[in-house]
Amino acid sequence: MPRATKSVVHGMGGGPIQGVGIGLRTPHYGVIQHDKPPVPWFEVLIDNYLGKGGSPLTHLEQVCRDYPVTFHGVGMSLGSTDPLNMDYLKRLKQLVERFEPACVSDHLCWISVGGHYAHDLLPLPYVKQVVDHVAERIQRVQDFIGRRILVENVSSYLTYRPSVMEEWEFLCRVVGAADCDILLDINNIYVSARNHGFDPMDYLRAVPVARVREFHLAGYEDQGEYLLDTHGSVVHAPVWALYRKALAHFGPVPTLIEWDNNIPAFGVLQAEAAKAGAIMDEVCCRAA
Ligand SMILES: [Fe+2]
Repeated sequence: MPRATKSVVHGMGGGPIQGVGIGLRTPHYGVIQHDKPPVPWFEVLIDNYLGKGGSPLTHLEQVCRDYPVTFHGVGMSLGSTDPLNMDYLKRLKQLVERFEPACVSDHLCWISVGGHYAHDLLPLPYVKQVVDHVAERIQRVQDFIGRRILVENVSSYLTYRPSVMEEWEFLCRVVGAADCDILLDINNIYVSARNHGFDPMDYLRAVPVARVREFHLAGYEDQGEYLLDTHGSVVHAPVWALYRKALAHFGPVPTLIEWDNNIPAFGVLQAEAAKAGAIMDEVCCRAA
């Protein structure tokens, strides 16, 4: 049976990423360093490594030596009206230049106002002024760190009255104007689709295939009236189903298992990654 060529995203130092990676989390440092498990790549929550040194940086050095990595951040606040945080970006740039990750990503959201930071990734009003505002900030970030970034769609629980376009149209306009790439979180699309009552396939069909460089998969909690994006459980069946459709549409995009709360044993994450990998092989082989 012919096999689809896996989509490869190249880094310059740690190597390209392909297949299904796992989010690097502190409780798993020991098993990763001791056992060197066969994980194709790790995603690093880079905000945890922006200090001057110490043991976090030592762990990062070890992981980057043994595996391809991507850097994923939550601190750019790309949609905020606050000035860009240049201290944050300088420290990020230093790590990017040192470790040369395959991808650098953050979220299409705002997290700060007036210098005060929220602990949430908040959605934006979908209007042209915000498209222009965010795109200009993404361009400045890319110029400063010297490479393209990926922006990720967030899950949301509210909308703004001034919005005049759908979330996917907003995303497409921003990435086109900024000339950046996309990290498509399949769980976030499903959560927001349920919360706001749209068809997730409308989202997938609208996104430009060539710009999608990575998928995220994670777990949510069903709160009855809405879905809560917790990243604290296995991936749920409807998200697996949507992942199949995304693979059929976009091809074998490198995929990450994200888990941030109630972090389980590393083997649980490996099992989720194996499940995603089997689905990727099945869907993309069939397509080939
Ligand atoms: Fe995500």
